Amino acid sequence: MIGSRDEQRGSEAAAALAKEGVDAHFIQLDLQDHDSITAAAQTIAKEYNGLDVLINNAGISLGGGAAPSQLPMSDLKVTFYTNFFGTIAVTKAMLPLLLQSPAGRIVNMSSGLGSLTFNNDPHHEHAEFNLLAYNSSKAALNMATITFAKEFKDTPLKVNSGDPGFTATDLNGFTGHRSVEQAAVIAVRLATLDADGPTGGFFDENGEIPW
Ligand SMILES: NC(=O)c1ccc[n+]([C@@H]2O[C@H](COP(=O)([O-])OP(=O)(O)OC[C@H]3O[C@@H](n4cnc5c(N)ncnc54)[C@H](OP(=O)(O)O)[C@@H]3O)[C@@H](O)[C@H]2O)c1
Repeated sequence: MIGSRDEQRGSEAAAALAKEGVDAHFIQLDLQDHDSITAAAQTIAKEYNGLDVLINNAGISLGGGAAPSQLPMSDLKVTFYTNFFGTIAVTKAMLPLLLQSPAGRIVNMSSGLGSLTFNNDPHHEHAEFNLLAYNSSKAALNMATITFAKEFKDTPLKVNSGDPGFTATDLNGFTGHRSVEQAAVIAVRLATLDADGPTGGFFDENGEIPW
């Protein structure tokens, strides 16, 4: 299932995957619209009979490069509403389905910019990206990863955060130096973890990274 808030973009993405032989279907899903989240969960339960993997990929970064003291509260709230509250709402709506799966996996697409450790290191390559809204929303998402993983540690469900790295996409005006194929590696790996794989961790394609 390809969740997208925009029917045309979502349908085009599903059609492109179908051309490559993937059994992909569009489902309308807007993280800022609770009704769409509920409806998507109901449709998946009714028409697709279950869900094994949830990749929480949607994310936004508002406020440009504004200094934390200059960031409008509205940008902070809207960024959190998608990256944190909306993502948690989708997770909660899909949980009953994921818990029925023998190998449920949740992948929260986080960011190295959500790492407190990286942000606190003035020599780290992320040091110049001092983004109050985006970075703190991803740090909050990382904490959600830990708390959900703890709650379900005695079930088959695994919950992890992934960092795709600085990737050329709309999010950064295509200034990232990684391809989407490279970025997808960690999402696929965390989505297909074996039963003895980790839960409650934060990873990029090279292994565990610090919170
Ligand atoms: N690019 C990077 O360098 C980088 C680095 C670290 C982490 N990440 C994370 O990777 C994930 C994917 O980002 P990306 O780089 O691929 O950025 P992107 O091209 O801007 O994609 C973000 C996607 O999120 C969707 N989205 C935004 N708000 C939504 C909402 N309310 N409901 C449903 N969908 C919504 C967008 O939908 P529309 O198509 O409708 O706009 C878009 O498809 C994000 O979580 C991002 O934070 C990216």
